Amino acid sequence: MVKLTEDQEQYITGVWNEVEHRQITAKALERVFVVYPWTTRLFSKLQGRFSASEDGVQQHAEKVQKALSKAISDLKKVESNFHALSAKHQEIGVDTQNFKLLGQTFIVELALHYKKAFRPKEHAAAYKFFRLVAEALASNYH
Ligand code: HEM
Repeated sequence: MVKLTEDQEQYITGVWNEVEHRQITAKALERVFVVYPWTTRLFSKLQGRFSASEDGVQQHAEKVQKALSKAISDLKKVESNFHALSAKHQEIGVDTQNFKLLGQTFIVELALHYKKAFRPKEHAAAYKFFRLVAEALASNYH
């Protein structure tokens, strides 16, 4: 499991305190659905409406952001905190590769938000965090 340094943990916690959780999550979801269209496979309930502003995407973003808030509240226990959520994603049939793709689109949204302040150092912290999330979400697949 990836381990963040103390500086990286502080950076991720700071970012999460600063950004509008549901909004950035909805934008990352829209981007993952558009850039990697196969990720929409299990989202028939969205009825082809994948824009961040759509109610369905906003509602799903709310669930995802809550889970991310839980992860960030204790960055040393992401794997155990995501134990049940990992099993749930396996049950739903989500390909674990997709977790990495959502991490990538989150990083793009962070870059757009922070612009020049999103230097390689901050990019590295975000990349590590989303790798940790992806690993934790895949950790209870059998
Ligand atoms: C940051 C990574 C992710 C987090 C934190 C996350 C979190 C969640 C949460 C909290 C739920 C609701 C679970 C429940 O109802 O008990 C959920 C459902 C779901 N997730 Fe994820 N998820 C992530 C990534 C993904 C990815 C990348 C995909 C596929 C592309 C995906 C597909 C789904 C699907 C299909 C559902 C069920 C939606 C429904 O029909 O209501 N998730 N996810």
